[in-house]
Amino acid sequence: MISLEDIKLNAVPRHIAIIMDGNGRWAKQRQQQRIEGHIQGAAALKSTLEGCLAVGVKYLTVYAFSLENWDRSPQEVNSLMNLFVNYCHTEVDNLNKNNIRFKAIGKLDMLNDECYRVLKITEEKTKDNTALTLVVAISYGSRWEIVHAAQQLAKEIACHKIQSEQINEQLFAKYLITDFMPDPDLLIRTSGEYRISNYLLWQIAYTELYFTNVLWPDFTKEELYEAIADYQKRERRFGKTSEQINHKLK
Ligand code: FPP
Repeated sequence: MISLEDIKLNAVPRHIAIIMDGNGRWAKQRQQQRIEGHIQGAAALKSTLEGCLAVGVKYLTVYAFSLENWDRSPQEVNSLMNLFVNYCHTEVDNLNKNNIRFKAIGKLDMLNDECYRVLKITEEKTKDNTALTLVVAISYGSRWEIVHAAQQLAKEIACHKIQSEQINEQLFAKYLITDFMPDPDLLIRTSGEYRISNYLLWQIAYTELYFTNVLWPDFTKEELYEAIADYQKRERRFGKTSEQINHKLK
C-alpha cells in the first residue's frame, strides 16, 4: 500500500474530482438500509479531506447528488437531504479548523428550503478559508450546466452586452457554475463502474481518469494516495507528442 512518503509533493494534482459510488452496495453487503451506506460515505469523505490537506490538493469536487438522483425513492432522497444538512451542521467547525472553504454547485433551487439555506450558511461561514476548497455537487448535472451557460450567453447577446463572435472557450467557461475553480487534473470513480455519469463533462477534457473497485464507504486517504501515485506515473500530453513534452518543443 502506498503511503504519504511515496507521493511527490511537487507534482500533486491541484484539483481532484470524485464520483463517490458504491454506497448502496456497501450497505447491501451488510444487510443494511441504503442510507447506512450514505452515512458511512459521508464519514469516508473525512479521510479523503485529510489526505488532500496532507499533500496539498487545493480543490476537491465530490459528486454527492446528481439531477438523475431525484428519481430515487422519496425515502432515499429525503434521507440524503437530511444527511447533507447534518453534515453541514456537524462539520462546519471542523472545516474552519482545517482552513477548508465549502462550496455547493448544482441546480440548487430544486433543494428544499432548509437544505438550501444550510448550504449557503456553510459557504458563508467558510468563505475566507484558503488551504483547500471542498466543492460538493448537489442536484448537479453537467448537461444542465452547459445548457444553463448557453442560456445566460443568449441573454447577454439579446441585450447587446456581448456579440456572438466574441464567444470562445474561455468566455464560455466563465458562464459555467465552476468558473471559480481550475479544471480537475484527476477524476476518481469508486466501485468498479467505468462511467462519467453526466459529471463535469466540459471540465474533464484533459483530466486523467482513475477507476478503483473499492466501494466509496471503504475509500480512505491511503486509497487516495494510491490514486495520486498512479497519476504521478502518467505523462500528461494535452494533445502534444511525448517528444514535444519532454523537449519542451512547440
Ligand atoms: C452513489 O452511490 C452515491 C450517492 C448517490 C450519494 C453520495 C453521497 C454521499 C457519499 C453522502 C455524503 C456526502 C456529503 C457531501 C455529506 P449509490 O447509492 O449509487 O451506490 P450503489 O451504486 O452501490 O447503489
